[in-house]
Amino acid sequence: MKQRVVSGMRPSGRLHIGHYHGVLENWVKMQDSYDCFFFVADWHSLTTEYADTSGIAQSIREMVLDWVAFGLDPEKCAVFRQSLVPHHSELNLILSMITPVSWLERNPTYKEMLDNIEQRDLTTFGFLGYPVLMAADIILYKATRVPVGHDQLPHLEITREIARRFNHLYGAVFPEPEALLTETPKLPGLDGRKMSKSYNNSIYLSDSAEETDKKIRSMVTDTNRVRKADPGDPEVCVAFNLHRIYVPEEKRDEIIPACRNATIGCVECKNILAAHLNERLAPFRARREELAASPDFIDELLREGSKKASVISDAVMTEVRGALKF
Ligand code: TRP
Ligand code: SF4
Repeated sequence: MKQRVVSGMRPSGRLHIGHYHGVLENWVKMQDSYDCFFFVADWHSLTTEYADTSGIAQSIREMVLDWVAFGLDPEKCAVFRQSLVPHHSELNLILSMITPVSWLERNPTYKEMLDNIEQRDLTTFGFLGYPVLMAADIILYKATRVPVGHDQLPHLEITREIARRFNHLYGAVFPEPEALLTETPKLPGLDGRKMSKSYNNSIYLSDSAEETDKKIRSMVTDTNRVRKADPGDPEVCVAFNLHRIYVPEEKRDEIIPACRNATIGCVECKNILAAHLNERLAPFRARREELAASPDFIDELLREGSKKASVISDAVMTEVRGALKF
């Protein structure tokens, strides 16, 4: 029997290349060896965006276009939307009854976000309960593996605790899911900070080749290299982190000494990078344009995927209600 994998992303709109190499590429690889459920965590985005929900629908569409264009195959896995499978909310309610508030209050992510986010009031019941909803997402499918980044490990630990507590109270229904830690390559944004939509320093999967060229031309290199005659050092060059991903090793092995003895300039070097990056993404970008041209494609896909997910979640909820003697 294949291990069952569940993972979700909050709808963040168009994905950048950091999301791709960090998360999506990994999901795409897993679809062949695991029984996969990948979903849009739209209820989770309400925990922070409740005051203005106007962008969520469009963000879902853009994100799922990226998922599918860049390799998620709805024939191989369930690709769906959390809010279209109401069992997530029913199980969330039940789990909230057995989850001690102290587990949620000591969650490091919770404390950190409360301290750092000033534009929004996050002192809500729902935001405190973020990990309970996430636990429901996962155990609703009896997942055994959950691919997540480092930042989500505390949430996964709470999920395991909640599953254990449920089993202890009502009988062994849920496996305790294990994290599959996603190794993310170092992928800085154009300005050298972490690539992030809010820093306006991202290369998007859906950018055109021209936009990408322009962005890469503006990218920070080795800041000590002011003129072309100055020797540079790829080890401290921001752009070279992308060369490591996109430029073939033989070519990189030529660039490294050429940079160090100043026989290649940054303009030429970044042109090489842009050409390789664009070549690698071109087929996916073309597919994305095709898919985006049919307006109902994503809605239809999410509806179908949600039906597929519901078959499992429905059976598990029947078992849960039975365990509760309801
Ligand atoms: N909390 C996750 C994040 O912010 C998104 C998420 C919601 C999730 N439910 C999940 C991830 C279940 C894995 C499994 O990235
Ligand atoms: Fe970076 Fe290339 Fe310029 Fe060297 S030549 S500093 S590796 S962009």
